[in-house]
Amino acid sequence: MPAPTSLAGQIAIITGACGGIGAATARRFVRDGAHVVCLDLRQDALDELVGQITEAGGSAVGLAGDVTDSELPARAVALAQEAFGGLDILVNNAGMGSGMVPLWEVEPETWRRDLEINLTSQFMFIRAAVPVLIERGYGRIVNTASAAGMEGHALSGPYAAAKAGVIAMTKTLGKELAQKGVVVNAIAPALIGSGMLEQPWFSGEVKRTLLERIPMGRVGEPEEVAEMVAFLSSPALTFSTGAVFDLSGGRATY
Ligand SMILES: NC(=O)c1ccc[n+]([C@@H]2O[C@H](COP(=O)([O-])OP(=O)(O)OC[C@H]3O[C@@H](n4cnc5c(N)ncnc54)[C@H](O)[C@@H]3O)[C@@H](O)[C@H]2O)c1
Repeated sequence: MPAPTSLAGQIAIITGACGGIGAATARRFVRDGAHVVCLDLRQDALDELVGQITEAGGSAVGLAGDVTDSELPARAVALAQEAFGGLDILVNNAGMGSGMVPLWEVEPETWRRDLEINLTSQFMFIRAAVPVLIERGYGRIVNTASAAGMEGHALSGPYAAAKAGVIAMTKTLGKELAQKGVVVNAIAPALIGSGMLEQPWFSGEVKRTLLERIPMGRVGEPEEVAEMVAFLSSPALTFSTGAVFDLSGGRATY
């Protein structure tokens, strides 16, 4: 019998699967024996990730698309069902920041786009997945928030607002599904060494200031996030829902 923390045989959708955290999570899931639908914008990166996983004996398929495409969530759920026979886990991981601009100077179009990518897309995947999970009487959903959504983040207003929305959405959905066998939690990473930190704004003074706020004095590794996501996605998690799990190296005081 598999250990309760094992994801053996579980079927998962992971959005933003080719980024730092997404790829580490996909690899962590298949290492446990899960079947994974890897979804990302980038077809070439998807081909590479899925190729590496399957060559190593893991079980994964790729789906290229933009999470803001309203038809994509249903296609992802259908692919999980066709390729692997169902759905157990949704990891809403895709997201991105849009640069360092004071809130009052943010273009309305940028505001809308940031909320669409970082909040509305997670809602759309929840809309597509939850009826299937309720029907099954079992499910695990992990939404990706951010320390920015807990604390606010100067010059990243739309991103921080979207991630705060992810937290409120998670708390709401956790309560709504509490008696249906489907648990819903969010993670709130602070600073993780992924593609996000390769953006031009993350350098010099910004980098130093952010690192100084982390008592462990380092950025987190994507694999450390993947480990928590794996636990939150596993049958071992039974009495936590609508909760936010910190990954901040000791920075969080909330
Ligand atoms: N890295 C950090 O410090 C940090 C901190 C807090 C929260 N997060 C969150 O973690 C999640 C993963 O980020 P990451 O750090 O791995 O960044 P990343 O840039 O390495 O990966 C993000 C992935 O999402 C994909 N993506 C972006 N927009 C998409 C779209 N519209 N449709 C489909 N795919 C899209 C990208 O192609 C990329 O593969 C994000 O939600 C991010 O906000 C990251």
